[in-house]
Amino acid sequence: MARSAKRHPAEVIYQVYPSSFNDANGDGQGDIAGITQKLDYIKSLGVDSIWISPVYLSPPGPEGDGGYAVSDYRQIDPRYGTMQDFKDLLKEAHARGLRVYTDWVVAHTANDHDWFEKSRKGDPKYKDYYVWADGKQWNGRTVPPNNWKSVFGGAAWTYDQERGQYYLHHFLKSQPALNLNKKEVQDAVLDEMKFWLDMGVDGFRVDALPFATCDEKLRDNPWLYGIWPNVKEQWDQQRFDHSMIQPQTVDFIARIRALMDGYPEKKTTIGEATAGAEGGLNPLPVAAQYVDLQKGLDMSYTWAVNDISPKARDRLADIVRALGKYFPDGGHCLSVGNHDIPRTFSRTAANVPPAEALAAHKQMMEIFFTLPGSVILYQGEELALEQARIPLDIPLDKLKDPTAQTQGLDACRDGSRTPMPWDGGKPNAGFSSSNDPYLPVPAAHVPKAVAAQEKDADSMLRFMRKLIARRKARPALEAGTATVLNAGAPLFAYLRENGGETLLCAFNMSGQSFSFKPEDILDDATIGRLSLQKGQTVTLAAYGSFFKDAPPQGVKAAPAPQSPPPVIRKAV
Ligand code: GLC
Repeated sequence: MARSAKRHPAEVIYQVYPSSFNDANGDGQGDIAGITQKLDYIKSLGVDSIWISPVYLSPPGPEGDGGYAVSDYRQIDPRYGTMQDFKDLLKEAHARGLRVYTDWVVAHTANDHDWFEKSRKGDPKYKDYYVWADGKQWNGRTVPPNNWKSVFGGAAWTYDQERGQYYLHHFLKSQPALNLNKKEVQDAVLDEMKFWLDMGVDGFRVDALPFATCDEKLRDNPWLYGIWPNVKEQWDQQRFDHSMIQPQTVDFIARIRALMDGYPEKKTTIGEATAGAEGGLNPLPVAAQYVDLQKGLDMSYTWAVNDISPKARDRLADIVRALGKYFPDGGHCLSVGNHDIPRTFSRTAANVPPAEALAAHKQMMEIFFTLPGSVILYQGEELALEQARIPLDIPLDKLKDPTAQTQGLDACRDGSRTPMPWDGGKPNAGFSSSNDPYLPVPAAHVPKAVAAQEKDADSMLRFMRKLIARRKARPALEAGTATVLNAGAPLFAYLRENGGETLLCAFNMSGQSFSFKPEDILDDATIGRLSLQKGQTVTLAAYGSFFKDAPPQGVKAAPAPQSPPPVIRKAV
């Protein structure tokens, strides 16, 4: 029975990538005790919760995919510490009022997981735990069962000698896909999830949800842009009609929801839904399927804005409209930066003169943090770290991400996984005392270390704290709608409305100052409600933003302590 049909309030979630966050024991590898040491810092950002990328037992090399190939869901990988370390982290986070979400790698296990070992041997209980199929005969040789491709390059099938069949893997061949079309496999997965929920974790970020189930008949996917063999044989050149995004996933999600609802305290789910039906384009309709109020997840996260630069004003407007269309009652979660995509600062600063980059980036963060739904802030994004360059910042022999091998350096995700710089005066900028850190700290990150930014009143870090505090002080941002206003370039503006509360968000997305009058973008009633004056000139500095609140009618505006006075703010 669903707990309630009310949307869980929007959250600000901080994502920790454990390998590169903080190394407590000096072995060069970030660890759980290191996260615990930094909980006060995380709390100081004003976030509600932490999502921790996987810390379960996983193969140590590239085949472990940075923890996203799980060998045992009930064991902590020794490189991250012990189960006791995890329990301590949970206790300390809760003591600070922070919720803890672990990463649930739902669609596959590692190929050394006990279930896979038994499945490949044909053990009756486990033989259908994974997606196995015979090859096809083609020109006198045996080829994979169908044309599905792996996200990480090559066929999505690998032949297993022991079983004498191919198995499906949407990512690495060390990540065999679980057969979640089968109820008994779902049962086994739910049981593993329960282990962590019972321990007290507050919920999960559910990994790679669109990949959870596939067509039982294993039909070929259609090619998007032409007819084979005149197309590049790559994952994103196909429609995902059969390999993924199947309706059964929604039914499985309902079972996850039922499990979560069985707890007296709130357990939260955030699904990763970054792929759309057509070659990864437009993930929003898929993400929206997963957040049904009665039976779905609390939120789905996408990278809807991941390729936005300050020049992409019109596309941003389209995204805000699309969020309203697909998530009319909320549930979208914006992943601002991520361990899978390039650093936000390197993206938002693209096409902007270097002298304007930080101001443009801060404004982009203001937009991201006032859009409908929840927001995930990835470690280091609060410092405006730029993408580490390969091989300039990370020598080739230090690379960890397997995609460097399978897809090439352009796809390698290590550039956003370098260590958090804590203190520029210490070895490895305070991340680790080891001579061999997980990845090197790029030289450009050293002056951006937390300690330096704490001292600088204009720093990105202090800006982000204020931004998050202002967001929290405004009920209009907790839920409700966003309406894009008809404003000419370079102005971009929307109204956030929630239960009679209104907030005008207006942004000058250019490097020159810009003036407008309220009647240029608002009707008379809204001008009155916001206590603006017709004819009044609002001047915004380069990349300046303007926020104006109106409380619900009949309610006296409560002075929000961290909210700046509603005046024209200069670019920061
Ligand atoms: C998700 C993770 C990514 C991982 C993939 C396969 O997309 O975020 O890091 O490689 O799933 O598990």
